[in-house]
Amino acid sequence: MAHIHDVLIVGAGGAGLTAALFAAKNGANVGVISKLYPTRSHTGAAQGGISAALGNVEEDRWEWHMYDTVKGGDYLTDQDAAEVFAKETIEGVIELEHMGLPFDRLPSGKIAQRRFGGHTRNFGEAPVRRAAYAADRTGHVILHTLHQQAIKHGITFYNEFYVLDLLFDEDGRAFGVLAYELATGEVHAFKAGAIVIASGGYGRVFKITATAHTVTGDMQALIYNKGLPLEDPEFFQFHPTGLFPLGILITEGARGEGGILRNANGERFMERYAPTIKDLAPRDVVARSMFIEIMEGRGCGPNKDHICLDLTHLEPEVIEKRLPDIAEFARTYAGVDPVKEPIPVLYTAHYSMGGIPTTLWTEVVRDEKNTVVPGLYAAGESACVSMHGANRLGTNSLAELIVFGRRAGIASAKFAQTYKPHPLPPEVVEPGRERVEKILNGSGDESVARIRKALQESMMENASVYRNEERLSKQVKIIRELQERYEHISIQDKGRIYNTELVEALELGSLLTVAEALVHAALNRTESRGAHAREDYPERDDDNWLKHTLAYREAPGKVRFAYKPVVLGRFEPKPRTY
Ligand code: FUM
Repeated sequence: MAHIHDVLIVGAGGAGLTAALFAAKNGANVGVISKLYPTRSHTGAAQGGISAALGNVEEDRWEWHMYDTVKGGDYLTDQDAAEVFAKETIEGVIELEHMGLPFDRLPSGKIAQRRFGGHTRNFGEAPVRRAAYAADRTGHVILHTLHQQAIKHGITFYNEFYVLDLLFDEDGRAFGVLAYELATGEVHAFKAGAIVIASGGYGRVFKITATAHTVTGDMQALIYNKGLPLEDPEFFQFHPTGLFPLGILITEGARGEGGILRNANGERFMERYAPTIKDLAPRDVVARSMFIEIMEGRGCGPNKDHICLDLTHLEPEVIEKRLPDIAEFARTYAGVDPVKEPIPVLYTAHYSMGGIPTTLWTEVVRDEKNTVVPGLYAAGESACVSMHGANRLGTNSLAELIVFGRRAGIASAKFAQTYKPHPLPPEVVEPGRERVEKILNGSGDESVARIRKALQESMMENASVYRNEERLSKQVKIIRELQERYEHISIQDKGRIYNTELVEALELGSLLTVAEALVHAALNRTESRGAHAREDYPERDDDNWLKHTLAYREAPGKVRFAYKPVVLGRFEPKPRTY
């Protein structure tokens, strides 16, 4: 079956829906493919807020937001991207408000704003209230608001379709995708004037993660397998406060509301690591500080293996009204009432700073000269416009979805006007069918669940908060072995209708591919910067490493690197202290 659209979006989270909306507003006929029902997208799990220098509670300026974003990213942030971002998120949040998004309000009626990690006033002086929020369900309400708007604008949805392949013509222009429909088992061909990838990250490469089961980097893996690069895949963020031991997100907004991290001695240890902004230091700094506290024997609990997030000094009303979901998670999954006792927390895999490289207008690029791949766009966590550099600040990702999702919609709609819709021959779906049949017919003795477990556990051990050459080299070998074992998987469900086992097998292939890029790039970068902390290279090395990695897959297990200069600007790289 073939479908034709001016603009085809892959992914129905915040970036995909924003792109869809703006492409439609710019005259395009838009289709959205999602492997989930749109409101199940992982954007819905984002809790604490969306950043914008609205200045509703106290003075704020986009320049301060830009500075925090650049410093937060340990100066790997492209400053042109950070500037566009810090300016355009202000209008973006107001647009969401006009769409009817139910933000929490101040008594004045303006959108309420709370503090968040790394967001400061006057270039680092003290924390600032910059995160607009809806209790601790900000992503959820953004997702629902955008979905309603998309329906209102007549956008066509293909829900529960898994993308198997991207199609390029002989001139290298992207013109379509092949996708497996879960409900029927059929492989469909889609043709489009422009394609926007907005399919989220790959947090599921790690065992302890705050990300949904579906966050498996499928489109990054497809791109990488097509010989296009991934930018900065070594930079992966661990959020400091996952509910221990499960890893479920406990929003940084809890610290924004005044929560304090304590060690086994009850000490507010962040005072030692970040004397100015303490518990509201950026995530990489807090996660490493927690790691050190635990390694030095000051962890909480009988096994001294986690940290305590103390909210007991907050008014119960603040917890119940502004943090209702995380209070419920703590009660349900940890048996702890945060009004009365601290919540056990530990860092949890959260966000990939790297991804598919793009220009400021979200065009996918193929090399260090920013040569554009015609017809292909990417936005949100699957992309790397490099506004997060080496470490993302909390609340900057929801804002990124809005700013760059919007740019993707506008740019793709314009580009799609240059396209002539020729029908596709029926045999175009064959490569997609072959991928499906290979897994359905596999008769080896390897199981998807076993390989996935081995990947996630070993990634946690060898490539998480702290890294070194020995463990990363070991992980390179483990991934190669797991990829070889993956060639011998078989699945039990041989049916074609709603075969979720098949989809999990495809997703495992993606995870193994993106993990390969992450680990090779982490081994290659012999410095510490942002979320990439090397025990054997503890210092940032601007002389040799103030540059972006472009990782190309030459063959399974064989990665080639090229480098792209960081776009510098008004903020000179400086030592990063808080
Ligand atoms: O902690 C949080 O609420 C997460 C927000 C984010 O990752 O931006």
